[in-house]
Amino acid sequence: MNPMDRKELQAKILDLKRARNALILVHNYQVMPVQEVGDFIGDSLELARKATEISKPLIVFCGVRFMAETAKILNPEAKVLIPRPDAGCPMADMITRDDVIELKARYPDAVVCSYVNTNADVKAETDVCCTSANAVEIVRNLDAKRVIFTPDRNLASFVSKQVNTEIIPYDGYCYVHTRFRPEDIELSREAHPDAIVLVHPECDPEVADQADEILSTSGMLRYARSSPAGEFIIATEEGLIERMRKEMPEKRFFSAGIAHFCFNMKKIRLEDVYRSLVEEIYEIKIDPEIMDNARNSLQRMISLTA
Ligand code: 13P
Ligand code: SF4
Repeated sequence: MNPMDRKELQAKILDLKRARNALILVHNYQVMPVQEVGDFIGDSLELARKATEISKPLIVFCGVRFMAETAKILNPEAKVLIPRPDAGCPMADMITRDDVIELKARYPDAVVCSYVNTNADVKAETDVCCTSANAVEIVRNLDAKRVIFTPDRNLASFVSKQVNTEIIPYDGYCYVHTRFRPEDIELSREAHPDAIVLVHPECDPEVADQADEILSTSGMLRYARSSPAGEFIIATEEGLIERMRKEMPEKRFFSAGIAHFCFNMKKIRLEDVYRSLVEEIYEIKIDPEIMDNARNSLQRMISLTA
C-alpha cells in the first residue's frame, strides 16, 4: 500500500470509528499502520485494564483472540470485534480445559494460575490469571504453598526463581520467543557493548539469564523511556521494537539477533480494521457461564495487582 492510500484508509477508519462510537485497542505487536489508528496501545495487562474502563458500546480489538476475549469478559456490555477471526495464539491453544481439570485432580491442594494467553474456557477453570507484567506479584500475593502455572513453562520458570512457592509448570511455550538463542544475545552484546539487554519472560531461561532486565512489552517501553542509556538490545516480537524506534528516535533499538514475528499478530491489516468497522465483524461471543467463571479469575488478577 502506498503512503497516500494508507493515510486515506486510516482517515476513513477514524471517521467510521467516531460515527460508530467505537474505540480501537491495539497490542504492541501490531503492524505500525494499525498502531497508528489505535486509541490505546499496550501490553496484555494494560489492555485488560483499559477494557474495564471503557464505556463505549463498540471495541475493535487489534491483537490475538485471547486478548479480545479478555476485553469481552471484562466488559460484557460492549460489542467486541476482532478484525481477523483467525488471529489466534498458538501458546493459548497448547492447553485445554480438560488439561486444567486433570491437573487440579492431580494436585488438589494447588492454586491454578493461568497466564492470560489462554482461551476463555481455560480461564473459567483457573483460580487467578496473570500477565507477563504481574506474574511474580500475583503468585507472591496469593500466599499459596503450591501453584499450578499454565501454560507458559518459561514464564513459570521466571516466576519460580523469585517466589517461595512451589510452582508446577505446564509445558507450553511461545514459538516466537523461543527462537531467540543465548548466542544471539552474546553476538548482539559484542556488536553493541554499551546496550542494555531487555528480554521478555517468554524467552527460554538460558536467554533470560543473560538479560539486564526481564520485562513485559510495555515494561520494556517504560524502561527504555526512563533509562539514561541510548542503546538497547531487545528480545521480543518486532512490533514492539518498531514502536520503540518511532517513539524514541533519539535512542537505538536492536533485535537480539534476527527479527522475529508473531504471524497471528501480523494478520490484522488496515483493510481488516476498516472492514471490521463497516460490517461490525467479527464479534467475540463466549458462552455466558464460561464468561462468568473466566471473569472471576481475571478480576482476581486485577485485584491482586498494584
Ligand atoms: P505482553 O503482555 O508482555 O505484551 O505479552 C503478550 C504476549 O503475547 C507476548 O508474546
Ligand atoms: Fe502468542 Fe507468542 Fe504471538 Fe504472544 S508472540 S501472541 S505468546 S504466539
